[in-house]
Amino acid sequence: ADGTVEIPVVVNVLYKTAAQNVSDARIAEQIAVLNADYGGSNSDVSKIPTEFQSVKAGDVKVRFKLSNTVRKATTKTSWTDNDAMKKASTGGIDATNPTNYFNIWVVGSMPTSQGEILGYATFPESAGLWNDGVVIAAPYFGKTGATSPFNLGRTATHEVGHYLNLRHIWGDANCGNDLVADTPTQTTSSSGKPTYPQYNTCSGTSRSIMFMNYMDYVDDAAMFMFSAGQKSRMQAVVASSGSRAGL
Ligand code: ARG
Ligand code: ZN
Ligand code: CA
Repeated sequence: ADGTVEIPVVVNVLYKTAAQNVSDARIAEQIAVLNADYGGSNSDVSKIPTEFQSVKAGDVKVRFKLSNTVRKATTKTSWTDNDAMKKASTGGIDATNPTNYFNIWVVGSMPTSQGEILGYATFPESAGLWNDGVVIAAPYFGKTGATSPFNLGRTATHEVGHYLNLRHIWGDANCGNDLVADTPTQTTSSSGKPTYPQYNTCSGTSRSIMFMNYMDYVDDAAMFMFSAGQKSRMQAVVASSGSRAGL
């Protein structure tokens, strides 16, 4: 009645080692992180700087409910962002009804020449397709047993942001456009645990940037907010007229 959408989740686990076979408890922990972060009830909202209090999302009104867990042993040691994990014919697990369920695939690891991929996501344009959903490497899924500094479950928070139509806050370009008016333009991605404030100049204007946004690239402990404009974009996608209305 208050407009909250509860998204049913299927977690598909592809494991070679026991550590990669993330436990039911760890899956529950990850879902709890998503619900806290999308509910604006994460304990670190208290760290949102005063200047961004007026544009914080608060409750995004999206929640997540585990519907099923599918597990499959594999001999594959490493994966990459080519969707192989999403098809049984390429050694993966077929998505469960992606129009009505949000599918997450957990894989052992995704090393590349550029470094390790923590996770990747499809945008709403892929709604209902066989490859629709989010992939997360096991060391960055959930909290207990996860690898620091990405061990607070926020890779999923970030990837679900993409799944619900959010771009990176720097717009993937120098002073790029993230299509959200209330997130200050930034020159590039942030990383690590920046000290507040950080200033960037774009089009001749210096602004304090919102590096603590989930759609930047900082460490899990350094990200703790969505903006109201980001909430609007996500709400539009899950609304009855939106591309993910089937969830
Ligand atoms: N690099 C990944 C992406 O662009 C995920 C980044 C997640 N960041 C984090 N602090 N967990 O989708
Ligand atoms: Zn991203
Ligand atoms: Ca913006």
